[in-house]
Amino acid sequence: MDTELINQELQMFSPVHVIYLPRVGSTNDELRERALLGAAEWTVLVAGEQTAGKGRYTRTWVSSIGKGLPLSVLLRPKIPLRQVNLINLATALSVAEFFEAKIGKGLAAETADVRLKWPNDVWINGRKICGILLQSGLENGMLKFLVIGIGFNVNQLPADFPLELRATATSLRAVTGAEWNLEILLLEFLKHFYFSLTRVLDNGFMGVVHQFEQRMAFRNRNVRIELPGEQVNGQMRGIDQNGYLILDTDTGERKITAGDLWEAEESEV
Ligand code: BTN
Repeated sequence: MDTELINQELQMFSPVHVIYLPRVGSTNDELRERALLGAAEWTVLVAGEQTAGKGRYTRTWVSSIGKGLPLSVLLRPKIPLRQVNLINLATALSVAEFFEAKIGKGLAAETADVRLKWPNDVWINGRKICGILLQSGLENGMLKFLVIGIGFNVNQLPADFPLELRATATSLRAVTGAEWNLEILLLEFLKHFYFSLTRVLDNGFMGVVHQFEQRMAFRNRNVRIELPGEQVNGQMRGIDQNGYLILDTDTGERKITAGDLWEAEESEV
């Protein structure tokens, strides 16, 4: 990937600077190392291939060469630690808006339904198209930096996904029928993301909470949340001002700060 033109264009209106690595373990890990050494805010690491891509919890993230677009963005936001949660939601929302705009220009526009599975999976037509992994760098209990890892599924065909993901994963190509140029997509996404995040950091998170709720998958449905060592069932009401999930359970309302969300099976209700 040639980043020269991308950087020339980005630097006209933003501090965003892209570094391309053909092969890396995990863009999140690599950017974290660079952040600790003082890398500038809005440094973006993009990989051709990740050999140890990380997902949420202990999962791995697979993105085939030339087909996926794995990247990490470094922020140094002056926000309290508790608001990291909201940056998570703001990132997912920004990605969802971006995909919606792209699909509008693709072939299958009318059929695409872009939804957010709390806290930060982006789904199109009921399948995952993008995963997000935020990692915080702390100093004396204060937020020093944030690495926002984003894995886009772009040009994969169903056979490019590992067997166990084929029924639940999708890509921009699968949805639109068209192949996408990764460099152009990256440039357009970074422009969009820079404006979305600076707007949120300047103006606050009120709009994010509201818009996230509008796009939330499984709202008012029965869901199951898997927490470390515990499972909670209930009806999902939405999110509160901190971005925590609000669940109606048999024992009353419960707020969930983090967890894995699934739609409940009939037998669980
Ligand atoms: C998930 O859905 O579980 C989160 C997946 C996050 C994947 C991205 S790809 C770029 C960045 N580098 C990583 O190692 N992971 C994130």
